[in-house]
Amino acid sequence: MMTDLILTEVEHRVLKLTFNRPDKKNAITHEMYSALADGLERAREDDDIRAVYITGSGDSFTAGNDLSDFRDNPPLGRDAPVNRFLGELVKATKPLVVAVNGIAVGVGLTMLLHSDVVIAGKSAVFSAPFVDLALVPEAASSLLLPRVIGTTNAADVFFTGRKLHADEALTMGLVSRVMTDEELKPGVFDIARSIAAKAPQAVKLTKSLLRKDSEAISARMLEEGGHFSSQLQSAEVLEAITAFMQKREPNFG
Ligand code: COA
Repeated sequence: MMTDLILTEVEHRVLKLTFNRPDKKNAITHEMYSALADGLERAREDDDIRAVYITGSGDSFTAGNDLSDFRDNPPLGRDAPVNRFLGELVKATKPLVVAVNGIAVGVGLTMLLHSDVVIAGKSAVFSAPFVDLALVPEAASSLLLPRVIGTTNAADVFFTGRKLHADEALTMGLVSRVMTDEELKPGVFDIARSIAAKAPQAVKLTKSLLRKDSEAISARMLEEGGHFSSQLQSAEVLEAITAFMQKREPNFG
C-alpha cells in the first residue's frame, strides 16, 4: 500500500523504512501497518535487498498503535494489517537494524524484540503500557520480553507501564548500544550498510539460526491475539482510550 506516512527507499541494498507521521508521534494506523508489511515482504523476497533499516521521523520512533484506530478499526482478524506486519516480522529473512530515535511505545517496543541490531539514541524512551490501556501484551512480547530483560523486569514494565530511558534499556539488554542523537541515524545506517555488504548466505543463515523458535513465537502471538481482541471490545478499553482522547485519567470503577 502506498502511503507517505511510511517512507520506503532502497540505498546500498538496504531497505529503509521510516515512520513518517511526526505530528502524531509516528502513531501507526492500519494503512501504515500495511505499508510496513509490504516493505518487509519485499525485503524477504528480493535477493537484492540484504538488510532492513527502520527509524522514525522527527523526535519519536513511534508512539505505537494509533489509539483512535484501536477504537474505530479494531484489528480483530488474522488478516488485520497489524497482524500481517507482525507475521512478516517473524518471517523476516534479512537482518532488521533499528535506530530508536525517540519514544518507542507499545508495538514500538515489542517490534524490537524481533529485530536484530537495535541501537538507541540518548533520548530514546521505551514503554509497553498495555495494561494501562486495559490491553494485554502483543507481538509475543509476553514470551520475548522476559527472555531479553528477565521476568522481573518484564513484569515491572508491563504492570506499571513505566518508561525505560536509553541507558537503562542498555543495561537490561533491550538495546545493544546507545549513540548520541546526532550520530544515531548515520551511525546505524552505516551498520545496516556494512551488514548488507557481507556474504549474503552467511548473513541469512545467521539470522535464521538466531530466530529458530518461530513456531513458539507464532503460537504465543495467536494466544495473545485472542485476549487482545476480546479486550478491544470491552468497556475497560473504551474507557482507557476515551480518557486518552479527553486528556484525563481513566476510571475503571
Ligand atoms: N495514537 C493516536 N494519537 C497519538 C498517539 C497514539 N498512540 N500518541 C500520540 N498521539 C497524538 C496525540 O493525541 C497528540 O495529538 P494532538 O496534537 O492532535 O492532540 C499528538 O500525537 C502529540 O502527542 P502528545 O500526547 O501531545 O505528546 P507528548 O509528548 O505529551 O506525549 C506520548 C507523547 C507518546 C507519551 C503520549 O502521546 C502517549 O502516551 N501516547 C499514547 C501512547 C500509547 O498508549 N500507545 C499505544 C500503546 S499500545
